[in-house]
Amino acid sequence: MTQLFTTIASLRNYLNTQRSKQAIAPALANVSVGLVPTMGALHIGHLSLIDRARTENACVVVSIFVNPLQFGAGEDFDRYPRTLETDLHVCETAGVDAVFAPSADEMGVTAAKVTQVIPPAEMTGTLCGRSRIGHFQGVATIVTKLLNVVQPDRAYFGNKDGQQVAIIRQLVNDLNIPVEIIGCPTLREPSGLAYSSRNQYLSSSDRILAAHIYQSLQQAKQQFFLCHDLCSPSQIIEVAQNYLAKLPEINLEYIELVDAKTLQPCSQITSEAELMLAIAARIGNTRLIDNILLSHT
Ligand code: PAJ
Repeated sequence: MTQLFTTIASLRNYLNTQRSKQAIAPALANVSVGLVPTMGALHIGHLSLIDRARTENACVVVSIFVNPLQFGAGEDFDRYPRTLETDLHVCETAGVDAVFAPSADEMGVTAAKVTQVIPPAEMTGTLCGRSRIGHFQGVATIVTKLLNVVQPDRAYFGNKDGQQVAIIRQLVNDLNIPVEIIGCPTLREPSGLAYSSRNQYLSSSDRILAAHIYQSLQQAKQQFFLCHDLCSPSQIIEVAQNYLAKLPEINLEYIELVDAKTLQPCSQITSEAELMLAIAARIGNTRLIDNILLSHT
């Protein structure tokens, strides 16, 4: 049965009990804890992270917290979908042990000044960081807090938010946080549209349009494999750009080919390169992101 915790103290108490079972019942040795941080409005993409955590840990914790620190002025913090009842049901069905759904006060993010975690500017000042000033600082701060509260053995993140995973990997490495970060594949609707809580903002015709974002990435991927390392990065990017140029309703913010780990622009395609081709675009007022990982290894 899924247990709901809204305070840090009660969650820690629960986790201490789970971990101490090791002493009482040696068969349960190594009660590993897996954390899946989310902002709720759970969908199949979130579920894939939960399922993976379920297979790899004795205890699975899902956090649900719409983090004010990562929303800029004029972004969708107020209208972000909040569906705790349904989310709890989803977690129950997926075999989640504990849901942590604290208030903003409980997470200590309402004070005028809070200590924030500042990831390297090279990683936050690119891709989405160019238009979402302070976003990744807010993400890094809340993820650090969640990792400190839960102290999981593993934490699960979707590659859909490729910049986010890269920044969190760097943060955990730089701050010596003892947790394994697991990046999980992007789950997509049959059309190719990546599942996202923000898809709820799209009309049915917008959804059809939005699927072209993934199609453009797929076209670029074909080009990447066709020309192996003989193509320049701009030739790959242009394939996706040209595809989307035929769809003026898709308002492109960026298409970039970057190193998947450092997020720095790819200057030359090599056999060893682990790359990410990333897109952000708006359809109406809805901002969508997607990416694919590209490598010849
Ligand atoms: P949220 O958007 O709710 O996403 C929670 C996790 O689900 C993230 O790691 C995200 O990459 C992953 N995810 C979203 N859509 C996915 C899809 N289609 N396939 C696979 N995984 C998917 O990302 C956040 O919340 C927040 O920034 C958070 C990390 C919780 C910090 O507040």
